[in-house]
Amino acid sequence: MDDAELLERIASGKLVEGPEHANEQYLEGLKRTLIVSADTELISAPSYLRAARSAPRMQNYISVMGIIQDELGHAHIAYRMLRDLGVDTDALIYEREPREFRHPYAFDVPLDSWYEMVVANAFYDRAGFVLLTDIFEHTSYGPWKRALVKVDREETFHLRHGERWMTTLAADPDHKPKLQEAADWMFLMTLEWFGLPDSLKRHMDQLGYGLKGLSNDELRQTWLRTAAPFCDSIGIETPVHRDEDTGEYVIDCPFPCEFDEEQKRWLLEDGPIEWDQVIARWKRRGPANVEFVRALQAGRREQNGLAA
Ligand SMILES: [Fe+2]
Ligand SMILES: [Fe+2]
Repeated sequence: MDDAELLERIASGKLVEGPEHANEQYLEGLKRTLIVSADTELISAPSYLRAARSAPRMQNYISVMGIIQDELGHAHIAYRMLRDLGVDTDALIYEREPREFRHPYAFDVPLDSWYEMVVANAFYDRAGFVLLTDIFEHTSYGPWKRALVKVDREETFHLRHGERWMTTLAADPDHKPKLQEAADWMFLMTLEWFGLPDSLKRHMDQLGYGLKGLSNDELRQTWLRTAAPFCDSIGIETPVHRDEDTGEYVIDCPFPCEFDEEQKRWLLEDGPIEWDQVIARWKRRGPANVEFVRALQAGRREQNGLAA
């Protein structure tokens, strides 16, 4: 199918059902988007598994196991679609180097407490929800649109789990400072997740071909429109405010900013940095990148006689 035919098909609201309805450029854009989504879902499993060790009670541990099971299901859906598009997903999952995974840097920073676990649910799963809802509403790729009905419902459950716990912990003066500490690094981490501002963004074909609907800045605002009022409602401070004239959220601290991985602290006192420096940090990957990817690959590599 040539480009004009494809764009006409998409513009008329017809969905692309497979490679026969698309062209090379569309498929490359689709695969790139699917890999980021699949990797993100998959890597959340070892990340949440590590954090589940901090669960205060057995039933809370079980809740996190349920969330992990959902995430593995979400990853499976995205990898299966990649396989249907001719991608060698075995090589993708088991043979890639950890730094080649495409999940956001946020998931390379390990979650070390129950506070960080539940803030991850409220912030990171909300980011997942925002990104996937946009794809659900706007994607021109039929198989993905249909699969996302189930995924979105489960992400809603994950973020409500985070909200319920944050509400409980914020109401207790013994717990609130530690919850605030977790929110302090994880709020900006989630804002960074949405990527380059629109003024610097590449890969505009994701929009042109109807693979997604909203731009990075619009998605960041969508996340803020629910995350910031939620934090306000439980007395957790955030570095943003809503501009009454435009209705847009404004970030009140240096952003983007350098992150101290050891201390899990933004170096706000050093002022803002360039996005090039952020991208360099993302490319270096974060402290738990190797641990998490190797945890997913270990069994398969052992079976194949590869070094774990
Ligand atoms: Fe998920
Ligand atoms: Fe989730």
